Formats: sequence, structure tokens, C-alpha cells
Amino acid sequence: MICLTLSGPTIEDNLLDLEANKDFVDICELRLDLLNPEEQAKASTFPSLVNIPVILTLRRVSDGGKCNLQEKARRSLLMETLKGGGFSYVDIEDDVKKSDVEECAHSLGVKVIRSFHDFEGIPADIFSKVHSLSSRGDVAKIAVTPHSIADIMTLFRVNEELKDTPKIIIGMGQWGVCTRILYKKMGSILTFGSNGVAVAPGMVSARDLKLLYRADRINDNTGIYGIVGNPVMHSLSPLIHNPGFHRINYNAVYVPFLSDSIRSFLTLAEMLRLRGFSVTVPFKVDVVRFLGNITREVKQIGSCNTVVRVPNMWKGTNTDFYGFLNPIEKEIEDGRITSALVLGAGGAAKAIVWALKMRSVKVTILNRTVSKAEDMAKLYGVAYDSMDNIKNYEGKVDLVVQATSLGLYPNEDVNPAEDFEFSGKEVAYDIVYAPKYTKFLRAAEKAGCTLKFGIDMLMEQGKLQFESFTGYHYPKNLDPLS
Ligand code: ATR
Repeated sequence: MICLTLSGPTIEDNLLDLEANKDFVDICELRLDLLNPEEQAKASTFPSLVNIPVILTLRRVSDGGKCNLQEKARRSLLMETLKGGGFSYVDIEDDVKKSDVEECAHSLGVKVIRSFHDFEGIPADIFSKVHSLSSRGDVAKIAVTPHSIADIMTLFRVNEELKDTPKIIIGMGQWGVCTRILYKKMGSILTFGSNGVAVAPGMVSARDLKLLYRADRINDNTGIYGIVGNPVMHSLSPLIHNPGFHRINYNAVYVPFLSDSIRSFLTLAEMLRLRGFSVTVPFKVDVVRFLGNITREVKQIGSCNTVVRVPNMWKGTNTDFYGFLNPIEKEIEDGRITSALVLGAGGAAKAIVWALKMRSVKVTILNRTVSKAEDMAKLYGVAYDSMDNIKNYEGKVDLVVQATSLGLYPNEDVNPAEDFEFSGKEVAYDIVYAPKYTKFLRAAEKAGCTLKFGIDMLMEQGKLQFESFTGYHYPKNLDPLS
């Protein structure tokens, strides 16, 4: 089940919220502590106003809520509200000793969720904690804060140990996003989704859980794919792959995994039987040593952005290489592009320089730190220069590629080629995709250049990745990033 957490200050707000999200959720949680005091009295009628099951929760400040009533008054408010009838569950925290709310709930046929929260970490005794919670309620709920892949594995192991225990296991914060999406793999009976404004750290919207990830349809046969990186939550790859899977009726999900080390991620990948994954900053180079099979491009570039499971090992490819080339392949074939300036000598520039070299384009690397440009130039047998000399290349190259990290949100006002005057005949290519029109591209457009966008490179590399993952072409007429 996908549960919408209702966090509005009034009953009316919550009804509107529920109406707006009704197609995405199976159950809702009414957060009594987030209602205005005068609205709390009306909450007892809430179940009669909606046609899905309702969880009643009155969260204390110490557990991340807003209720600061004395404990006795808090329990009384919970019981008064329950007596309105129609609630399906009530949430009672782990340390509530008095059994009055529990008794009240059971007399009304309301199930008890026994919950435990930890906003700092994961308790060492998490297994016994789930066990004891489940012995004291109908459902055990644990909301804890993972800080590493090892923590994530601990959460997935809870289900291995306590498979038949009705439970809700949630990893909060950015580390826990994968646990919210893969809630069924955690053995959780439900996952909480927001209306778009996260009530708890790392919360995914109910809409994305339902439509993007199809979290409630994940089953034993669902192939799990993902992207590993740090940071990773800004990645657009889930927006490429998940709609692609749906369009071709491929039973799979693509999940962002924040990671602290590629080695521990690979252990998690084995545990979850991942079929493949994308690799992003800072793991593209590090991942290579763990791969049993790599393509020529990965070997030459020394970095890998796509990994798939093959019998007994992981195989790595680099779709950045072709993703970069595809949008300019025609100009290269036509002979419109025979020479190029590549601005930047970081990880992203590597695949680009090699790809251009493979297409016999004459490359000059320009970088702020000349020694880095020199190292890369020597490795690939191309020319190099300091970024300070960029004006010397005006009117002399067919393609200018912006491959530094500048121009990317929130530095969108920076253009590393500020002094460069385009003649208007160049093709200008920026690998930055957010924003689409970078300062670099705007300057090129003003001069009349042909523009190539980072978003197209991203989409192209994503399509190739999709083929590696599924064996099928990316569906035609699907352009989720446009
Ligand atoms: P990526 O993997 O995105 O390429 P990277 O490996 O950190 O990231 O490389 C960043 C690139 O952007 C480098 O070429 C870097 O130049 P230096 O090698 O001189 O650091 C370039 N870059 C970053 N900030 C820059 C700035 N303020 N001015 C010019 N170039 C910059």
C-alpha cells in the first residue's frame, strides 16, 4: 500500500490533498499533531469523510511531530478521536507503557501500529526492537536514519530475519530513499508518500511512488536497476528508465542509491540481485576494478557509467562515449566537424576527448590547470593549451565543447569561455544539462552557432543504457526530459 501522509493544518486542506492524490494512494495517515488545535476536535469524523483506510497518529515533538501535550492529555486526545469511529490503525510509540489507547483501539476494532523513531542512526538492537514492537502491536514500525550502504543492508536484513512479521521499515533521509521505493522488498506493508512537500526527511511523493516507480507493483519477478552516486538524488536517470520500462511492459524498477563506497554498494547489489546499474560521480573510475568484463571504451577512458549482470560477473560499458557522439555524428560524417576545442580536463572531458579522437576529429584540450590538460593530451595523443589562451582559437575550430563543471546550477552565471568570440560557424556543445540554455550556449546562439544540448547527450546515453539493461530499444516517441 502507498500511504499519503496528510500534513495540512485543517481537515478541509487534508480532504483537498487526498482528493488530489486519490489515484496514487491506498491508505492515508491523519497527522493529528499537524492540525490546528481547533481542527483537532473535528478529526474524529475524518474517516466518515473519506473512502480509504485511515491511520491516526499524534506524533510527539521528540519523535519528529508537533504535539507538545502532556502524555496523559495526548493519550486522551487520541482516544477521543478514535471513538469517532472508522479508523483502521492507530500509531502508538514504542515507549508508551499505559495500555489505555491500545485497549480503546482494540475495543473499536482498530489495529495498533507500534512505532519507534531514531533521527540519528540505527539502533544496534534493531532486530530485537522489531521483534518486541511486533509482540506489542499488530504492526511493528521502525523509522530510523541510515548513513551508509552498510546501514541500508541492515534494514533489508530485517526482513530476512523477520519475514512473517507485519511491519513497516523506513530508512529516513537521502540514504533511505531506496527503502521507501523498495518497501515491498523490505517486507513493509506500506510506504509513506507525501503530497510533494516532504513531511519526513527523504520522503518521496505519493505520485512518484505510484506513477514513476510503481512501488506498489514490485513483486518477486521485478528486475531491480538503479543509479549509484554521491550525490545522486538530483539525477534525471530515474525519469528516463522508469517510463521506458512501463512503456514496453518490462517488469522492472530503477532506483537512486546514495552510496559511500562502490565496494559496499556491490554487496548490496548482490543482496538485492540488481540486474544492472548506472554509475555517476564519484564512482565512475573506481567501479572499473570490480568489473569482470569491460568494453574497449571503458578500458581506454578508464571510466564506466553502465554496469550489467552477466553470468558470474559484472560487465561495464561506457554509454557517455556514444551519448556524446550521437548528437554530432551527422556533422562529423558530413565533414562539418573536423576540429574541436574541449574545455575542461576532468572526468567528463575524458570520454569526450577519446570519442572525438576515435572519429578522427583534431582535438585541443583547454584547461585552467594546464598540467591536467597536458596529462590528458599526452594520454590520448591530442593537443592542449591553457584556458587563458582561448582567444587564439577564435575562428579556427568547428566544434567547441564545454566540458567543465561550470554553468551548472547553481553556478549558471559562469561561462568558462567568457572571452571567446564565436564566429557563428561553430557547433557549440555544452554537456551541462541544467539549465538547458547555459551562459556558454546563449553566447554561442547570439553569434549564430549551431547548438547541442547536454540534455540530448544525457538522453542519448540513457537510451543506450536502457538497451544494455533490457535488450530492447528505448521506446520511440518517448521523450521524458523534454
Ligand atoms: P567532471 O567529472 O564533471 O569533469 P572534474 O573531474 O572535477 O569534474 O573536472 C572539473 C573540470 O571543470 C576541470 O577541468 C576543472 O578545471 P581544473 O582542472 O583547472 O580544476 C574545471 N573547472 C572547475 N571549476 C573551474 C573554474 N572556476 N574555472 C575554470 N575551470 C573550472
